[in-house]
Parts: sequence; C-alpha cells; structure tokens
Amino acid sequence: MSLASVIRSEQALLVPTYDRYKILLQQGSGVYLQDAHGNRYLDFLSGIGVNALGYRHAAIRRTLKKQAGRLIHVSNLFFHPYQAKLAQRLTKISGLQRAFFCNSGTEAWEGALKFARAYARSQSHNGSKPRWRILALDNSFHGRTFGALATTGQAKYREPFAPLLSGVSFVAFNDVVDLIRKFDSSVCAICIETVQGEGGIRPVNPEFLQLARKLTRKTGALLVLDEIQCGLGRTGRYFAYQHYGIQPDIVTVAKPLAAGLPLGAVLTTNRVAHALHPGMHGSTFGGGPLACAVAIEFLSVLEGLLSHVSESGDYLRSRLDWLKAKHSCVREVRGLGLMLGMELDSAEKAKAAVSQMLQRGILINRTNENTLRFLPPYIIQERHIDQMARALEKVLSSGRPQPVRQRRARKSTRRENQN
Ligand SMILES: Cc1ncc(COP(=O)(O)O)c(C=O)c1O
Repeated sequence: MSLASVIRSEQALLVPTYDRYKILLQQGSGVYLQDAHGNRYLDFLSGIGVNALGYRHAAIRRTLKKQAGRLIHVSNLFFHPYQAKLAQRLTKISGLQRAFFCNSGTEAWEGALKFARAYARSQSHNGSKPRWRILALDNSFHGRTFGALATTGQAKYREPFAPLLSGVSFVAFNDVVDLIRKFDSSVCAICIETVQGEGGIRPVNPEFLQLARKLTRKTGALLVLDEIQCGLGRTGRYFAYQHYGIQPDIVTVAKPLAAGLPLGAVLTTNRVAHALHPGMHGSTFGGGPLACAVAIEFLSVLEGLLSHVSESGDYLRSRLDWLKAKHSCVREVRGLGLMLGMELDSAEKAKAAVSQMLQRGILINRTNENTLRFLPPYIIQERHIDQMARALEKVLSSGRPQPVRQRRARKSTRRENQN
C-alpha cells in the first residue's frame, strides 16, 4: 500500500483525531525507523516516550516470542504468574507497596483519581463530608478521558468536552503562594507531573514539590504524581521524584513500561490500597500475561541503562546548550535526563524546525507550541546526539521557516539499518 492510498483510506474511514506527518513507517532497528521508500529516520521521539529500548531489542523480542507462544491474555478473574512478579519489581524501585495494572497512561491516571477519592471516603468518620477537592497544575496534561481531562490544566483540551468532573482547582505552576492559598482540608489530592511533558518539558521546582508533600502530610491528603512520561528511567533515575528526595502516595506510569505494548500502572501505598475492594475498579485487558512478561524484561534491561541515560542526558543537554549559545531564537533549554525541551521564540519557528529536521531524517516534535521536545530511546549514543545536534544547527542557522519537501526515496542498505 502506498502512502497516498493509506492517506486516502484514512481520510475516508477514520475519525479525524490525528494530524500525521506524511511518512509511512514500515520498520525499525536500534534508534532508527525506516519508511516505505527506504528512507531512514534517527528517532529522538521514541513514539512519544514509549520505545525506550528502541526497535527490535533482542531481549524484548525473545520474551515476546516466548510468552506469545504460551499465553497472551487471561481475564482478571484468574491468576497468572506475571502481575505479582512485575508488582514486586515496581514496588521495589518506587518505594511504594501496591500496584494496579491497566492499559494506558490515561487509564492509570483515572485509577489514581478514583483511588484518591476512595481513600478520602475511607478516612471520613462520624458522618463528616469526605475530602473531595483535587488540586492540579496549570499547563499540566494527564490524558484524554473525562477525569484525566478535568485535571488537565490546558483549556484547549478541556473546553470542547465541558462540563467535566467537578471539584478540580488549578494552581499556577511552581507558585508556592498559590498552592498555599488553594489548599485546605477539603483537598483529597494534589496532582503533579514531576516533569510536565505536553506542557513544554518543565520540571517542577523542589520547593514546590516539597511544599505539596508537607501540606498533604499535614491533612492526610494524597500527593499524586504523574510519571507517565517522565518515569521509568527517562530522567536517569527510576522515577523523576527520586531527584527531589520525596516519596509520593500514588505514582502513575505507562509509556515505556511494556516496551511498546499497552500497559499502565498505578503504584501506591498499603494505606490507599486498603480503601479499595474487589469490584471497585478493574480492567479486562489490564495486566495481561504478555504485557507483564515484557514489562519484567524491560525493567531488567533498564537496571543496566540508568547511568547511560544520565550520561547521555548530560551530553544531549550540553549540545543543546551549545546551540542556545549560538542562536538567539533559543530561549531556554530545560528538562531532566533524556527528557529535554528547547524553547524557541516563536511557535512558527518551532513548527518549521520540526519539519526541517524531518527532511534531514531526524524525528523530534513540538510541545506547548514553541518547545522542541527530545525524548530519544535510552540506548542513544553520543554519535547519534552529535548527528542530531549538527542537523539542528543547520536548521536553526537557516534562519527562517522553509516549506516542507518530501524526502527523495532511496534504497536502504543493510549497514544503514544498523545503529
Ligand atoms: C504526563 C502524561 N500523563 C498522561 C498521558 C496519557 O497517556 P496515554 O496517551 O497513554 O493515555 C500522557 C501522554 O502523553 C502524559 O504525557
């Protein structure tokens, strides 16, 4: 099927929720993707943070093959060996005690909100009204289902679907005065992305996060962290909150967890878990044997990659800082580990930069209008970072947006497919 015919069919058949780049991807290897014309792309996006081990990772392929040959799905009416094994790994690395498995980031976030409300209810005594208010942050993104949308601090996502869940207030990002002003004993949860992803790669300030921890501890409200994009090694530690010396009550993860298969998890404490009982929450597919077996393998590989992520993150940052020093259109470079953003002085320039990088065979994207986002696979090497930085240097030097041209088709060679 040609790109043109896929586009025609999709335009006729799909609900138009996506604005795709005109590339027909066919296969991947290491940190490279290849399209139907044999063009190769160096991937600095990882399927928006999913393909942390790149493509065709040998251990993941082995586990997939083995487990697919045994058992792909069983309902949550029955046991299989891998949920508990995966929960053991996740609780060990997070310092939390319990896990609930689902299929995506949004679902994990919905679970977290329900757990917070259920916990608040379990704590209310003598007919007192349970804590119900949720504080979320301006500019946040937690997903696209109703609860997740209701806590997403960007009007463009919320407004088309209003009215949403009630009881949510937004706090200005990193504004401790606003947090103190909006927090009271009616709050059941403070919700924070440790590093905002869709909001433009913005790490929360230590002072703000520590205050949120202190306030919630005082009243018994929960500190709920969304690490769907920034968790599971992306920042060079297992969890981004581990850079801040605090421990949350709930953390959500998804994207890279099962190396490309859909799997999300809510991790929490015994205290919160005791507010739930069978029937209160669940999922048909969540925590199936195939996804869990692959996730266990992912975590084993991740253990040996964390320091590489830190070092590569430092190197990538140094290259982006070098570009900032050379180009006045770069306002700021920010982020943690291999989750970095480069804010440009206009959305138009950022849009053009993404297109021009694509023409040069490098995938990045744009978040929050004017911020270039870099989320490479954890296996990225310095030479790939240099290649990307050289291309970006040329793009930023070109000075003004140029129209997007289709890359010429060319035959790939075996050598090109190696990373
Ligand atoms: C921080 C954060 N939370 C939640 C989500 C939603 O995850 P999903 O698209 O898997 O439902 C995303 C997705 O980008 C995210 O970055």
